Amino acid sequence: MRDIFARYNYHEIRTPIFEDTALFSRSVGEETDIVSKEMFTWEDKARAQSEKAQSLTLRPENTAGVVRAYIEHRLGDKGTLQKLYYIGPQFRRERPQKGRYRQFYQIGAEIIGPPSAGSESPARDAEVLEMLATILDEVGLRDWNLQLNSVGCAEDRARYNQALREALQPVVHQMCADCQRRAETNPLRVLDCKHPEDQPIIEKLPKIGEYLDEPCRQHFAEVRAMLDAVGVPYSINERMVRGLDYYTRTTFEFTHGGLGAQSAVLGGGRYDGLSESLDGPKAPGIGFAIGEDRLILALQSQGEQPATKIQAFVAPLGAGMNQHALKLARELRRAGIDSDLGDENFRLKKSFELAEKAGAQFIVIVGENEVAADQFAVKNLATGEQVTVARADLSAYLRK
Ligand code: HAM
Repeated sequence: MRDIFARYNYHEIRTPIFEDTALFSRSVGEETDIVSKEMFTWEDKARAQSEKAQSLTLRPENTAGVVRAYIEHRLGDKGTLQKLYYIGPQFRRERPQKGRYRQFYQIGAEIIGPPSAGSESPARDAEVLEMLATILDEVGLRDWNLQLNSVGCAEDRARYNQALREALQPVVHQMCADCQRRAETNPLRVLDCKHPEDQPIIEKLPKIGEYLDEPCRQHFAEVRAMLDAVGVPYSINERMVRGLDYYTRTTFEFTHGGLGAQSAVLGGGRYDGLSESLDGPKAPGIGFAIGEDRLILALQSQGEQPATKIQAFVAPLGAGMNQHALKLARELRRAGIDSDLGDENFRLKKSFELAEKAGAQFIVIVGENEVAADQFAVKNLATGEQVTVARADLSAYLRK
């Protein structure tokens, strides 16, 4: 992941594991499941009597922390796009099940900057989605599905919310308590409801696509045209509004069939008004977060094994050989050969077993005769071929 991020000119940002509670309620939104039910929040002790206790929260997601850092450290003053990635734990109080944990790991990125740097352009959306398709292809995930939607701008959302309110009015009394409250406070969040009895009603509600204004329609059309041009396949899912309030325009999820109910490997979207809503400058942005746990589950569902291969296993043979083996392993490792090291107390058979378990390509024997001659027995564990190689040639031989 780090290699791919470097190839696309992203740099790492590390934000704190916990933040001021208000940061999440203001950005993710009071009525979302995350803020209303799932945050691990506590009251921190005041240091002095004159101070008030502060409410802190383990981060449930990382976009809010990145945008806070962008504002606090005036990253926009550079006038360029900030392309920032993060890898780390997030926390949500959910009912644990396959693919859903209370501490989980996200690999995410955000592109954010002043409009003059091109942060609003549909080219950013397409670049992000193309990178995600490349990431999933390169890690070997097959048959992923990109679901795409546009949730419009703030004005579109206001009109859509009004339409939802009106459509819900005659039916909302049949729905769950959360829906009844949200129909008043934030009707869009009614669409997140998981109650099976409420689904037939939700199915009939108006769709956001009908409420997009012309600039938003145009933006979405340009994103789709670029994806078509580079050959990234997607399907439009007008029901996907995502469970966080800060989204505007493009939203997306990549799903995979091997995951069961929690089918989203990753999710993201654009958040053009988020910085301003946190009292920052105008700084449109777009980003995503991959659920690392789910990515691994999806790869395992394809029968993929984690790669734990090394090039060489250095096996000391007989008393006094540990120091010679360590010296040789040191030379190999400094020459960039991934190596592991045995112990002089191991019999040869055990060294071979360990080398195979470590997925080594070669075993290098360091015995008294080898040390005296300054050349080593090297066995290819896949083919069984054994040769003798002089110390000076060893790293080149193993690399080849
Ligand atoms: P999210 O959809 O809430 O978006 O989470 C992104 C991904 O994190 C999900 O698709 C899923 O793979 C994983 N995930 C979420 N909750 C859990 C859990 N309890 N256990 C395991 N995996 C989980 C966000 O967090 C946004 N901040 C993404 C974003 C970045 N949007 C713009 N920039």
